Amino acid sequence: MSATPDHLLRAAFDPDTFRGDGERLLARLADHLERGLQADNGAVLPWREPSRMLERWRADFETGASALPGVHAGMSPSAVLDVLSMHMLDDATQLHHPGFVGHQVAPPLPLAALCDFAAAFTNNGMAVYEMGQQGTAMELHVVDWMAKQLGLGSAAGGVLTSGGTLATLTALLAMRQARAGWDVWTDGSIGGPPPAVLVSEQAHYCADRAVRIMGWGEGGLIRVPVDDEYRMRTDLLPEYLARAQQAGRRVLGVIGSACSTATGSFDPLVPIADFCAAHDLWMHVDGAHGAALALSGKYADRLAGIGRADSVIWDAHKMLLQPALVTAVLFKDARHSAGAFAQDASYLLGPRGEAAWYDLAGRTFECTKRMMSFKLYATLAAYGPALFDAYVTRTVDLAHDFAALLRAQPDFEVAVEPQANIVCFRHLPAGVADLDAHQAAVRMRIITRGLFYPVQTMLRGTRWLRTSLMHPFTSRDDLQRLLDEVRTA
Ligand SMILES: Cc1ncc(COP(=O)(O)O)c(C=O)c1O
Repeated sequence: MSATPDHLLRAAFDPDTFRGDGERLLARLADHLERGLQADNGAVLPWREPSRMLERWRADFETGASALPGVHAGMSPSAVLDVLSMHMLDDATQLHHPGFVGHQVAPPLPLAALCDFAAAFTNNGMAVYEMGQQGTAMELHVVDWMAKQLGLGSAAGGVLTSGGTLATLTALLAMRQARAGWDVWTDGSIGGPPPAVLVSEQAHYCADRAVRIMGWGEGGLIRVPVDDEYRMRTDLLPEYLARAQQAGRRVLGVIGSACSTATGSFDPLVPIADFCAAHDLWMHVDGAHGAALALSGKYADRLAGIGRADSVIWDAHKMLLQPALVTAVLFKDARHSAGAFAQDASYLLGPRGEAAWYDLAGRTFECTKRMMSFKLYATLAAYGPALFDAYVTRTVDLAHDFAALLRAQPDFEVAVEPQANIVCFRHLPAGVADLDAHQAAVRMRIITRGLFYPVQTMLRGTRWLRTSLMHPFTSRDDLQRLLDEVRTA
């Protein structure tokens, strides 16, 4: 006899079932973490062709039938959870594995992941204070703390949002509203000359995306060349500003990358700040990855000048060990945080211009928003900033060690001395004509073997293997093994 709709719902919300499911799932996750941290821990990336993966996870949700081993119609929901979570973890890119040297996503701190789970469970949205009172308070404290670490001053403030890309759009919308010279929010983009912003040619694509979304077109992003270390040539700023103005653009600001994605290079922020001050331009810093160096006693000076920015974005899911996503958009003058969005929505917000300081929806693109403050707040409360100092300093130290290791081996080349925990290098075996194709082929072979997960990038038309040393326990020996693996591959 099939369950009545009421039984079905009651069983799905049964607290005892939840307790049992949760205990088993947590035990499985703890095993996964333990395995990941060991040296003989299997694959960091259990590679399967996309079409094979699609086939593996094929399921008929009406009948409960599945292509996955061990899942079949008629199983209890708890049994389904057990088997699915096992397969999900088996197929996971193992960020807790020291061979994870790929993209800039943190191996999440277990405590922070637990908090994220609790945030998901309470589902206290953050559009308005009433839907997430505690989350709002924690968010305001965390944002204040982050602004303080960067030296943005006592009037600073901001908001948490879902990722660096959205955060960049948010900051640039505020810049546009503040510097366009007319009320763009009300009158639209046609109230004056087409805006533009100056940025290093190494900047993350999110700046380009934000500019295009705002309707400034390709010419709205003016790319300033970089020096040998992939840092913005700030000596060229006057020339590029003049050229843009001659082309009829109204330049609103300069974006400094701190650091860039491909090589982890820090644009010189002091000259950028001086230039912005001299020309009444908005200074924005993309600190998605590198703002965390502010927490390193050893490396904080790489961010010199960041405190003079009008806005900064900072991803906590990169160098603050948080599960994705959680990004701060910080403003030197907190009032700009509401400047990007000024919306009438009587069912949710107060009248335009009267958004209460505690209703954070007025500051973000999002309406319902995950309570992303809890994990970061709890991490800070539990471990203090010393944890971040230890992590950031260690990973940047390791990048310098890795560069030295590479330089000591004649069949390898380093793109540039690392400035953060990102290292780009190439394998140069004798007798290989197409070195670019070689790097790509080697990387693919490494991934399919599974012991390491490096990524790749193009620099000045040449292909490089790229590593972000995100794992707190990747060692110099692991990196020597990676080089051996490159040779074997
Ligand atoms: C410098 C920089 N800015 C922005 C982003 C985009 O951040 P997110 O992936 O959180 O959208 C990245 C991502 O790697 C980045 O490296």
